[in-house]
Amino acid sequence: MVVVGAGTMGAGIAYSAALAGHTVNVVEQNQKFLDEGMVRIGDNLNRSLAKGNLTNEQASSIKGQIHPTLDYAKACADADVAIEAVYEDEPTKGKVFQALDKSCPKKSILASNTSSISITKLASNTRRPERVVGLHFFNPVPVMKLVEVIRGERTSADTLKDAEGFVQTMGKTIVHSADRTGFIVNRSLMLFINESARLLDEKVATPQDIDKAFVLGANHPMGPLQLADFIGIDIVVDVLKVLEKDYGEKFTPAQSLQSLVNKKRLGRKTKGGFYDY
Ligand code: 3HC
Repeated sequence: MVVVGAGTMGAGIAYSAALAGHTVNVVEQNQKFLDEGMVRIGDNLNRSLAKGNLTNEQASSIKGQIHPTLDYAKACADADVAIEAVYEDEPTKGKVFQALDKSCPKKSILASNTSSISITKLASNTRRPERVVGLHFFNPVPVMKLVEVIRGERTSADTLKDAEGFVQTMGKTIVHSADRTGFIVNRSLMLFINESARLLDEKVATPQDIDKAFVLGANHPMGPLQLADFIGIDIVVDVLKVLEKDYGEKFTPAQSLQSLVNKKRLGRKTKGGFYDY
């Protein structure tokens, strides 16, 4: 299989697919991003080693199944499935789909890990819209059991069946969503995060109390502002803007979210967001 994009999600998908026994070719747009992606995959391996979930031999065998490359033609030559996990931007994803369509065999499934963009629109960048499907994974991919499967207007029944079979080999559980912006989880989750940021903007409570309220009052594993830091404030704002276009101002990013992006405090990955790390 092929994963395009070795950011948090791409690296997590690549690692989880290799763990499930697949050979994975990871494609990036330049050597620096590819190297950084391989470090992320190495972090996942080290975490499992440290927890005693993998032996040294298993870890080196998984590492051997993951092949980084900048070359689409080389990566895609034998691909059964290619999953695009690049930056959440329609033109950028469109270009990746054009490249995959050109390089992958006709039978290959082309999937997008988009968290909000229409699968039908992404499929229009290919000559095989019937083989295009949405497979939306959750962060951290090795831990989160869910994959949302999204059928575009022209996705065929065979493609759905093949894609679902592939997801099941990774031990994930499937839910189906129509091709409506944000699908199931992000449409609801981003509204929740946004409203929680508004609680802060309106000085209803401190960040600590907002998070504590949901951890202790609703049994969430982390509070909404902690979760925004975990996902990445820039990603939260980008997804909110896509949702805002379709559903209106309830999704307009809260002032605190926008101001964190302006200050480049993007959450855990920049060691600061709503909290310092
Ligand atoms: N990568 C890989 N594995 C990780 C990890 C990471 N970043 N963080 C934790 N883990 C693993 C640990 O190794 C451990 O595995 P084990 O059970 O095999 O030992 C397990 O997760 C639990 O970890 P910890 O005990 O260290 O930590 P916590 O119990 O605090 O759990 C958490 C950490 C799993 C991140 C938990 O806080 C959680 O589930 N948070 C909510 C995550 C969430 O909602 N994700 C969805 C975001 S929305 C999204 O992705 C959509 C996108 O489109 C925006």
